[in-house]
Amino acid sequence: MIELQPFTEIDCDRLIRWVPDRRFLLQWAGPEYKWPLDTKQLLKTYAKTKIHPSSHYMFIAYDTGIEQSIGHIELMNVNIEKKSAHIGRVLIDPAIRGRGYGSQLMNKICEYAFINLKLSTLTLSVFDFNQSAIACYQKIGFKIIETKIAFREFENEKWNLLIMKLEKQACKFNSPSI
Ligand SMILES: CC(C)(COP(=O)(O)OP(=O)(O)OC[C@H]1O[C@@H](n2cnc3c(N)ncnc32)[C@H](O)[C@@H]1OP(=O)(O)O)[C@@H](O)C(=O)NCCC(=O)NCCS
Repeated sequence: MIELQPFTEIDCDRLIRWVPDRRFLLQWAGPEYKWPLDTKQLLKTYAKTKIHPSSHYMFIAYDTGIEQSIGHIELMNVNIEKKSAHIGRVLIDPAIRGRGYGSQLMNKICEYAFINLKLSTLTLSVFDFNQSAIACYQKIGFKIIETKIAFREFENEKWNLLIMKLEKQACKFNSPSI
């Protein structure tokens, strides 16, 4: 079983090891982080999570069975009045992808957002070539609501961005605590 735990300073090195190159960094985190990813940049984001009331949450995904951190996820632009937030920086340890952890992690973050924070709407952005991520998001009920053509350029590539949305009532929870 996985649980969400707050990201802290001691989680920086592991997360940096999971980001192999410049291309991956851009597709995973956007242009806010510059290559090479370092602790200073991560701690700048971490500082946002310490403001109260917070509109930014950073979590590690912790597998209680093997007692190891297996992933990372963030909830950003949390707006309690509008009951909305944006999910970002979803990442599973590269050594253990394709084993269902990503789906479990999406389940947990939706549970946290819809149940703990009482939100109604979640959005996220994903590039159209990221088929495993898209499958993972569709599985819990996210639907594509917009496509931004050539949203990002990397070397000679143009990347199309998909905006996906999930309303609480359409969320296909699969959690023992719901
Ligand atoms: C995206 C990511 C979080 C998914 O995590 P994961 O643990 O590999 O995902 P899962 O094992 O839960 O698989 C999710 C679904 O995707 C499907 N899938 C995997 N690879 C696929 C592919 N190439 N094409 C289509 N579907 C695919 C799986 O079959 C699974 O569906 P199923 O359970 O119905 O079989 C992970 O691959 C990752 O960290 N990627 C790098 C970072 C990243 O790109 N993050 C997203 C930024 S928006």
